[in-house]
Amino acid sequence: MSKKVLILSSSYHKNSNSEALADAFAEGAAEAGHEVKKIRLADCRIGFCRGCLVCQETQKCVIADDAADIAEQMGQADVLVFATPIYYYEMSGQLKTMLDRANPLFPSDYRFREVYLIAAATEDETETPKNAENGVRGWVECFEKARFAGTIFCGGVTEGGEIRGSERLGEAKRAGAEI
Ligand SMILES: Cc1cc2nc3c(=O)[nH]c(=O)nc-3n(C[C@H](O)[C@H](O)[C@H](O)COP(=O)(O)O)c2cc1C
Repeated sequence: MSKKVLILSSSYHKNSNSEALADAFAEGAAEAGHEVKKIRLADCRIGFCRGCLVCQETQKCVIADDAADIAEQMGQADVLVFATPIYYYEMSGQLKTMLDRANPLFPSDYRFREVYLIAAATEDETETPKNAENGVRGWVECFEKARFAGTIFCGGVTEGGEIRGSERLGEAKRAGAEI
């Protein structure tokens, strides 16, 4: 069955390492017959959640920017993929801000069932992406019909584009093909 896959890529790097992993994942998924869309948060206007909770009544955010449309697209996808550089052992602020702004989805009949984390960092330890993974797991736990489907991580990369040639790209492509 063909699935709708939505990738949120949160790095500002032009040749982003985490986005290259996400692109490999997308390639695998597309080749397997799935419908893939990527949104670069760097190209969007996304303000901070104000915590007013109006969205829990109306399913609409009071802030008029790009986050409302992104949240709507998240709600209509089968698979969500969050790509982030590791910043201070956490997900990027831009991704966290978007996850907060997806709060209108909480009381909604969202469609997504699987959520992946894709991350890149300078350090290459098993622990390096764990806090970011816990953050995404926490978000997913709030959406009972969905499950956290896994982390794809590439350490040992710092400058944009350094990931080129890494075997992790192949792993990401295979993961995308297996959703
Ligand atoms: C503000 C900031 C904080 C960072 N914190 C970490 C960190 O805690 N651990 C780490 O291994 N790398 C850290 N890095 C390095 C990035 O994770 C690394 O450059 C990554 O490859 C960037 O991915 P991108 O190209 O997708 O943006 C940090 C970079 C920045 C700019």
